[in-house]
Amino acid sequence: MTEAAARSTGGIDGILESGRLAGLSPAALAEEFSTPFYVYDLDLIGRRVEALRAVLPRGFRIAFAVKANPALAVVAHLQRCGVGADIASGGELETVLRAGFDPALVAMTGPGKSDDELSAAVVAGVGIVMVESRGELRRLEAIAAELGRRQPILLRLAVSEDARLETVRLIGGVEGKFGMPLATLTEAAREAAASSHLELLGVHAFGASNLRDAEQLAGHVAELVEIGRQVASEAGVSLRIVDAGGGLGIAYASGERPLDLALFGRRLSELRSHWDSSPALREMTVLLEPGRFLVGPAGAYVARVVDVKGPDSAPVAILDGGINHAVRPALVRSEHRLAVLTSDAVRALVRTTVAGPLCTGLDVFSTEAMLPRPRVGDLVALLDLGAYGFTESMPLFLSHPWPAEVAVLAGRARLIRPHVTPTELLDRQVDPDW
Ligand SMILES: Cc1ncc(COP(=O)(O)O)c(C=O)c1O
Repeated sequence: MTEAAARSTGGIDGILESGRLAGLSPAALAEEFSTPFYVYDLDLIGRRVEALRAVLPRGFRIAFAVKANPALAVVAHLQRCGVGADIASGGELETVLRAGFDPALVAMTGPGKSDDELSAAVVAGVGIVMVESRGELRRLEAIAAELGRRQPILLRLAVSEDARLETVRLIGGVEGKFGMPLATLTEAAREAAASSHLELLGVHAFGASNLRDAEQLAGHVAELVEIGRQVASEAGVSLRIVDAGGGLGIAYASGERPLDLALFGRRLSELRSHWDSSPALREMTVLLEPGRFLVGPAGAYVARVVDVKGPDSAPVAILDGGINHAVRPALVRSEHRLAVLTSDAVRALVRTTVAGPLCTGLDVFSTEAMLPRPRVGDLVALLDLGAYGFTESMPLFLSHPWPAEVAVLAGRARLIRPHVTPTELLDRQVDPDW
């Protein structure tokens, strides 16, 4: 796109400003790339990285949680921003290597890592493997031994499921899908400390998703460091790294307050001063693995209205894409802000149902969005979908084309993944000659 872009004001809040997406005209983007498409503002992602980095005290590192947005151009941009990466599969390992990440800055997390995935991580030289269970510890040790390597690890602590939903509280007694209860983890720590093929660096725990409360987030870090200190002391090793996971939240609904970054930074600095007074903690590094916070507000899904029905006072707009491209609102019942990207004269706001084209009642983005009365051909943006957008969707359902993905950097929009047509998907299938 050659348009002299109206550059954004340099804030960190969102991709839509004064009716423009990443500083560009939505109509021009739609003409060049065709709807439906995702658009990501890489400059905004860079500013969000800087804003977070600016408040972190000494000894804190950022690793981007690739699961939030694994688009290669987005991941490569984050690499250029100088952060590390948190990956959770062999596919994400391939992505970060292709994106140019130094493997030493990569941490592999997640339950159910296969032997192949663990081997690939060890061979690539990833900086940390988060171990989720004693079984995984033994498999990883055998793999590292066979490859003649010493793999740095953290042990993942189980977090109470209830705590995940409401408040971050580490409860050591619960056996669940993620990590190990404290007693098991302490045993695993002793075992790891005695291994010549594993290097135990510390502990990891993911507290809760989408927290916008700086005190809670800092409290999680403080609690985890304290547990890490005890575990390291029982295992007879020094605590070198504590990985507090992601979970830094963003505001989805209008009126929600964003995370108070300055307060978060102040609380972490207080913790740092406290740790600095302890010889056991002075050299410790804290890793944060934000996904949503870095990329969420920097992406939008843009679709076109193909049909409008119902009364003028309560219209129903049907778009050319729905939960096949953006399932998050339906999946977690969290309404995303919607915007009709119209440049014509101001239209009255009406309570609008906005839905996709799929044959299921689930495929509804909102039943009460206050929007300028939509018309066929209008562009509609679903905001804050730079994280857990296309990657978390159900693109095969009803065999519609996949959306394109577009990235904008310094006012220039580039296609980073083309639409995939139903024909291309059919061409990959076979009806065997029985
Ligand atoms: C281990 C781990 N780290 C980081 C993240 C990223 O979380 P968020 O995008 O909420 O920051 C997740 C999300 O599920 C996770 O499971």
